[in-house]
Amino acid sequence: MSPSDCPDCRRILDVERLRADFPILQREVRAGVPLIYLDSTATSQKPRAVLQTLAQMYQQHNANIHRGVYTLAEEATAAYEDARAKVARFIGAAEAEEVVFVRNATEAINLVAYTWARANLQPGDLVLLTEMEHHANLVPWQMLAEARGIRLAFVPVKPDGALDLEALPRLLAQGPKLMAVSGMSNVTGYQPPLAEIIRQAHEAGALVLVDGAQLVPHKAIDVQQVGADFLAFSAHKMLGPTGVGVLYARRALLEAMPPFLGGGDMIKRVTLDGFAANDVPHKFEAGTPPIAEAVALGAAVDYLQGVGMDKIHAYEQALTAYLLPRLQEVPGLHLLGTVVAPRGAVFSFWMDDIHAHDIAQILDHYGIAVRAGHHCAQPLHLKFGVPATARASFYFYNTPEEGDHLIAALYKAKEVFA
Ligand code: ALA
Repeated sequence: MSPSDCPDCRRILDVERLRADFPILQREVRAGVPLIYLDSTATSQKPRAVLQTLAQMYQQHNANIHRGVYTLAEEATAAYEDARAKVARFIGAAEAEEVVFVRNATEAINLVAYTWARANLQPGDLVLLTEMEHHANLVPWQMLAEARGIRLAFVPVKPDGALDLEALPRLLAQGPKLMAVSGMSNVTGYQPPLAEIIRQAHEAGALVLVDGAQLVPHKAIDVQQVGADFLAFSAHKMLGPTGVGVLYARRALLEAMPPFLGGGDMIKRVTLDGFAANDVPHKFEAGTPPIAEAVALGAAVDYLQGVGMDKIHAYEQALTAYLLPRLQEVPGLHLLGTVVAPRGAVFSFWMDDIHAHDIAQILDHYGIAVRAGHHCAQPLHLKFGVPATARASFYFYNTPEEGDHLIAALYKAKEVFA
């Protein structure tokens, strides 16, 4: 297949030029076998600008923040707070203080479950989830159900992987206090219509938490326009480093929530008898935060905005339109989720007579990195009656030719196992 097979992809982005910014994409897995990285849903690769920012923070500006009055400490504090402001603008938050730096999306969701939910939910109260949630947006609520006797209900997933939104009014009529929904499935790539879901949930009196771990790296989101009350995401899936993530919440919510972890920086005053919590967002940032990593997240945001989030989304739509039918032609291959749009370029599949882990191993032989397993979404796999799938996930730095190589390798895998 020639590159001209996906002219739309070429028209939208000059991927070869962008790939040159990612040192790891130049490496070979083995001599003569270039890396084809198709696991950005697990973690994305990092451009030079992010790696350099990280190194520069440690080489030139390394000091603790919000504490020292010396130059280095002031530089580090300013860089950290600048990154917060950048992230706030990136997601359309009304103010920088609505961005709390945490470890990752998982911690952001747990923060809401431990603070807002424990302060606001009573035994018997309902939290509405969906059947496609990542364990990070399921287990914290199951833990809360065990500890506090709250109830959980689930929006069903249809055979094509989309949410059954016809069931939503009936579920919302049960009066959930919170709906927690993924903005993009890490298994099917499906992106539910968030604005419409949130509108309906608000009308029913529920707040809405969006698990944006997959959505935020792949599609522009404006929290005010869409109406999200909480948004959780991780830096490492959007070109940033590991160890830092974000909880966005409206200021009024953050101010009313009790603190999460106790320690330094989250207090205004401490006596032996008690403490007064700091202002938001510091109230939720106990201890030394991932300073250089947050600043590098700011660099990742700059990079993504330089490419253009609308272009990234359009490119992934074009790549999906190119690859989905080709994958469906592979004999004995079954996709978990065939929804066409709107979605990210994530393809989870199983094959007759070949275990998902064997597929991943064969693909690795060709330098192709994919994930195999249940991808932290076991209930969704159970629903489709498969214990495991292989998952190829593409980002804007992947080319249509890499998709061709994947498909060619799958045909070879079939031959090997025939
Ligand atoms: N949440 C990541 C994934 O889906 C780890 O692979």
